[in-house]
Amino acid sequence: MLLAEKTAEKKIIFSGMQPTGIPSLGNYLGALKNWVSLQDEYRCIYCVVDMHALTIRQDPAALRAKARELLALCLAMGIDPEKSLLYFQSHVPGHAELAWILNCFTYMGELNRMTQYKDKSLKHADNVNAGLFTYPVLMAADILLYGADLVPIGDDQRQHLELCRDIAIRFNHMYGDVFPVPEAYYGKVGARIMSLQEPEKKMSKSESENPNNVVYLLDRPDTVLSKFKKAVTDSGSEVRFDPDKPGISNLLTIYAAVTGADAAQAEREFAGSGYSDFKRRVGEAVVESLRPIQTRFDALIRDKEALDGLIKTHAERANALAGRMLRKVKKKIGYPI
Ligand code: TRP
Repeated sequence: MLLAEKTAEKKIIFSGMQPTGIPSLGNYLGALKNWVSLQDEYRCIYCVVDMHALTIRQDPAALRAKARELLALCLAMGIDPEKSLLYFQSHVPGHAELAWILNCFTYMGELNRMTQYKDKSLKHADNVNAGLFTYPVLMAADILLYGADLVPIGDDQRQHLELCRDIAIRFNHMYGDVFPVPEAYYGKVGARIMSLQEPEKKMSKSESENPNNVVYLLDRPDTVLSKFKKAVTDSGSEVRFDPDKPGISNLLTIYAAVTGADAAQAEREFAGSGYSDFKRRVGEAVVESLRPIQTRFDALIRDKEALDGLIKTHAERANALAGRMLRKVKKKIGYPI
């Protein structure tokens, strides 16, 4: 049986991530870590969406490198290639083929309402390309191509998933039940990690004007320790969760998330500690939690042949799965046989 094939017991999960840079500790603790734990209960399909990345101008060599790094990092985090599919979107032409078809079942008015499109076209006013506009259709194609049941997403992708469902329902209505209508998967709520310099903002890899805001999964120990050392704290001197202490609360949240302690335990451990000692220990805990990921990542990137082999096998499996859905769709819509 093919990996990620639907079985009676297991639902299919699909998720995509853009290769726009190394994920942050916030991405990891908030979302990516959950991807790893979904693998036993579901058939998981994880896709590095390099085609989506093209909607913003990319340097070719950097895009290629970032996509490969992200895929290797997923493996290093614990995506198990024996259990789940992990591949590059551009290696499966079915994404583009289905996206074209679905474009013809999506209305301009629907795409016009997408808030991410509005935000991005303001931010990249010099490059409001058609891909940016139809981005959600490609995303719908990603999901529907594998008949996914569940899609783990953050709030920012909720509107896109809603559109995907509308497209699936519309298509099914015209051609019979072709696509399962996917649902958002809100699993365990991951930790909400804030910026180290501006703890009222989310720690986001795209908000990296100040590199000290964000810890990246591949930041080496010295860098991690230095970022925590510089993290802003609050007035007072006590280490405890408090809405008036966003900096300290965030550091406690990070500590709890990486050590597995609960909030009360984390507070107790630092009772009586000064801020600088506290920050150093949080930094050290983060270093220790990243160390095994980085060690595995380094080994994966070094062994070029093994990684190439895995990429090739997974692309073949993804193509085989995608091919089935695509044949069905093409038949339904009346492409010549
Ligand atoms: N648009 C998503 C994001 O920026 C990435 C993505 C592309 C995705 N295709 C997907 C997520 C399919 C879930 C399912 O985060």
